[in-house]
Amino acid sequence: MIDLKNKIETSYPLLQISGNEKQKTLFFEIGKNEILPGNFYMLHYGTCQKPVSVSHYDGKIIGFTVQNRGKCSASMISAKSGEYFGLTGPLGNSFEIDGYKKILLIGGGIGTAPIFFLANHLDKLKIGFDVVFGSRSVKEIEYTFPMKEKIRYFTEDGSYGTRGFLTLGLDGLLDNNYDCTCICGPEKMLPSALNKIAGRSGRILISMERYMKCGLGLCGSCVIDGIGLRVCEEGPVFEHEVLKKSEEFTRYHRNEYGIREYF
Ligand SMILES: Cc1cc2nc3c(=O)[nH]c(=O)nc-3n(C[C@H](O)[C@H](O)[C@H](O)COP(=O)(O)OP(=O)(O)OC[C@H]3O[C@@H](n4cnc5c(N)ncnc54)[C@H](O)[C@@H]3O)c2cc1C
Ligand code: FES
Repeated sequence: MIDLKNKIETSYPLLQISGNEKQKTLFFEIGKNEILPGNFYMLHYGTCQKPVSVSHYDGKIIGFTVQNRGKCSASMISAKSGEYFGLTGPLGNSFEIDGYKKILLIGGGIGTAPIFFLANHLDKLKIGFDVVFGSRSVKEIEYTFPMKEKIRYFTEDGSYGTRGFLTLGLDGLLDNNYDCTCICGPEKMLPSALNKIAGRSGRILISMERYMKCGLGLCGSCVIDGIGLRVCEEGPVFEHEVLKKSEEFTRYHRNEYGIREYF
């Protein structure tokens, strides 16, 4: 039985859009809602429907940071203020951080979006955290600059922060005795990060990205092989211990035809 709460699409005009040609953040005034870091929305625009994580929410205005990766994302970031989007959500689970005192946050590429929202949330709750972000260039992370004093940045081209992969940034942090580590980023980046933090990072929670069609738990396109869990319903945030039992984690995902694509 599917719980229909939050699963009705509502239209909102695009309030503001900011960013660069590589990625933009789209803001909508949605008013008060119960939105937690890790939650995502289905964004409907023209003929496109795509899941996008919440990157900003202040109790009234919500923001989604969209990277130009293909047909739908390119059309969404070319939208103009005042144009209408359909928003369905908040969907999915969230990072469970209750009771933790010190949390390590790791975000790579567009995976910085839900982690940025989580960092802001922890800051408001006065929970201790360290953040490491990695991206190809500054264009993918400049939207996080309102928090830049609190974030360690790594870029592959050296355009901001330290040149290199974010795993470099983990070296100096691991004596800090974290209760929990929250991660979102490209799966091909995860094995090296996970190897580095193994045994020194507390509980590990990972936000997963899989091809989604309905986003409502109905179609099965986002099921993770071997563990039978749906990213849109039971996820997108999973325990590393659970993902380790799957066949596909860090190895492959399925495209829109259900065909495996290896990372
Ligand atoms: C829970 C969740 C949260 C997400 N949050 C964000 C976000 O905050 N910002 C953002 O820009 N994007 C996010 N995405 C990805 C987004 O939904 C789109 O998949 C992405 O924008 C590409 O769509 P497209 O139509 O532009 O590209 P397409 O033309 O559909 O595809 C371009 C390429 O991306 C691959 N691809 C498409 N969809 C996925 C997918 N879901 N998983 C893995 N590979 C895929 C295709 O196989 C292809 O190689 C999220 C996805 C999920 C499942
Ligand atoms: S996208 Fe349809 S079940 Fe998850």
